[in-house]
Amino acid sequence: MDWESTRDWFPVTRELIYLNHAGVAPISTRVRDALARFSREALERGAFQYEPFFDTEIERTRGHVATLLGAETSEIAFVKNTTEGLGIVAAGLDWQPGDRVVGCDLEYPSNVYPWWNLRERGVETILLPGRDGVLPLESIEAALRSGNVRVVALSSVEFGSGARNDLVAIGALCREHGALFCVDAIQSLGCLPIDVREAQIDYLAADGHKWLLSVEGCGVFFCASRALEYLTPRIVGWRSVTANQDFDRYHLDLQPTAGRFEEGTPNTAGIFALGAAVDLLLELGIDSVEERVGALTDHLVRGLRERGATIESPREPGLASGIVAFTLGDEAPKATARRLRRAGVFVVARRGCVRASPHFYNSSAELDELVAAL
Ligand SMILES: Cc1ncc(COP(=O)(O)O)c(C=O)c1O
Repeated sequence: MDWESTRDWFPVTRELIYLNHAGVAPISTRVRDALARFSREALERGAFQYEPFFDTEIERTRGHVATLLGAETSEIAFVKNTTEGLGIVAAGLDWQPGDRVVGCDLEYPSNVYPWWNLRERGVETILLPGRDGVLPLESIEAALRSGNVRVVALSSVEFGSGARNDLVAIGALCREHGALFCVDAIQSLGCLPIDVREAQIDYLAADGHKWLLSVEGCGVFFCASRALEYLTPRIVGWRSVTANQDFDRYHLDLQPTAGRFEEGTPNTAGIFALGAAVDLLLELGIDSVEERVGALTDHLVRGLRERGATIESPREPGLASGIVAFTLGDEAPKATARRLRRAGVFVVARRGCVRASPHFYNSSAELDELVAAL
């Protein structure tokens, strides 16, 4: 793969060393072109060709998202963000007092608050403690053994430390103990492979604006067909039902697919962008992207260590991801990140570390510049 040539798709490389794909990513010219196609149609013909133009692209994108996840097209819904997807699960399950949710104290708040919000319904949320940025599998198993666990809610990759969770092992534990498995995949989808079947995932949510390299405000929600029956959609509208182009007859026969969670008009522009972003990743191949990001992050880790930085992310195979968290001596991470930003290197401070998150189009030379700027 000629990774150097992929830089042409990312004009951001002309101005910045952009290493914040775990935050908000820049878009590619491919996504820009898709948005231009959307704009041109909306500008020149409005909804005159809604079905062949807009609907076709919405369904095409749904299919490609399913491919990326190893899911069926009928298991995919578009949502506005990760939080909405997790909220569909938290709001939709038939909770009983005494039910428990198992999470972790390394999680982003969006995978904590929806569960805490169930406290008044008698649901307890257990936040297992991470150790050196990693959630030990034994802790999850022990929590499941303690009983009454309805849902295990974890990220594929922890947003601060960058530790990858072993989804296949966790999914197997959930199945063994009769718990549902709900995954926040925003920190890996588009960068690391995932197979929802192999990992026995019931629900998954991810927004498009990080590793998928799309725009904000349009994400995906996966609901395994076997787990659809456990969720009651709490917001229902014209699009939730079957034959939803028939506006003359009221009925509440919900779609037999994840489409029932799309209650109204979708974010069509966002879906155009997402479709182009997913196409690009599928063309490159997620396994190749993972390998490339692995090589780049290894390069960065070597450079940072030589410069005397401490790497806080676990780097063992199976745990490493696209996120490299580090500290530099006594310097406050926010001050280090500010210094780098002034040098045109975009990194951020998170959870007491500087966080760098390169994607496939970044280069080793850019990572060397980060180290030099330190
Ligand atoms: C692990 C994780 N989940 C969720 C989010 C954000 O979710 P949303 O798409 O709802 O804004 C972030 C953003 O940083 C994140 O790192």
